[in-house]
Amino acid sequence: MPAFLRLALDENLRTLNGVFLIARGIIPGMKPFPFQDPAAYERWRAQKLRWASDDSLLTPTPLSAEPTVGELQALGERTSKRGFAIYQTHPDSGVDKSWLIRLGQQFGLERLDSNLCADPESITTLKVKASDRPARYIPYSNRSINWHTDGYYNPADQQINALILHCESPAAEGGENGLFDIDLAYIALRDENPDFVAALAHPRAMSIPPNEEAGSRIRDWETGPVFRINPETGRLHMRYTARTRNIVWRDDPTTLEAVAFLQNLLTSGDNGVIRYRLSAGEGVICNNALHCRTGFEDSADQKRLFYRARYFDSLDFSRSRSPRLN
Ligand SMILES: [Fe+2]
Repeated sequence: MPAFLRLALDENLRTLNGVFLIARGIIPGMKPFPFQDPAAYERWRAQKLRWASDDSLLTPTPLSAEPTVGELQALGERTSKRGFAIYQTHPDSGVDKSWLIRLGQQFGLERLDSNLCADPESITTLKVKASDRPARYIPYSNRSINWHTDGYYNPADQQINALILHCESPAAEGGENGLFDIDLAYIALRDENPDFVAALAHPRAMSIPPNEEAGSRIRDWETGPVFRINPETGRLHMRYTARTRNIVWRDDPTTLEAVAFLQNLLTSGDNGVIRYRLSAGEGVICNNALHCRTGFEDSADQKRLFYRARYFDSLDFSRSRSPRLN
């Protein structure tokens, strides 16, 4: 049986087949992922690779404090084609957490994931914290963060489909982000060996052990696929971490080979990975693209401060009509 058919018959994907075409808010560049149709897949792949070679899509998109329709459309187009886009506001334009919430709403992002360390607005402030609960989590330290998609430890019905990361203030040194479109990761894996993507779509491909604090369990085991189809949009979704501790990969040779290939893809040189150090007022909006962070150093008067908004919703550019954010 051809590998693409084995993929289509995978239990996880088969259960979603019935809603494959019920995609809302489909925009150019983010069409449903044609995993079942080889010819459609080849067209989709060719288009994605054309966009991946267009460096103009990586140019930061200027956003006014009250973005115009044109600005929002430019941001939407870049995000839809590359899986992420960098925006640029003036550092003195008064961007705050409520502005970020309204930016997300322009793209259909309403349901914020209020995780353990989030602020009351469900947006998380990322800065070095010496004490408290956040101190045990790497995002609140100055250490590097390995490649991942957000919420890989979330339950299946609470997957993160979009993310906004905003730089209020960069570190004195370091703190560069890596970014990689999940569609391109899928293409690279399938080009290398179609069995890789089938293995990573297995419902038990990746398991995350429980999270326990002071003897009490605050999150149970989470087991699920790396690749799945979002039932609401028909688009690809990825759940992944490159960390090696506190993760259990399915004990299957093809799965372990696929994981090794992916890790090498993300960390090797000429691979299409984008590295960018956000300046004050800049941010990334993305479809929960793969991302990482280098370590950094704060100084007395230059401390890294980022805001992070995670969404259960997917980006929906058909809603970006209103130019007003304030
Ligand atoms: Fe993250």
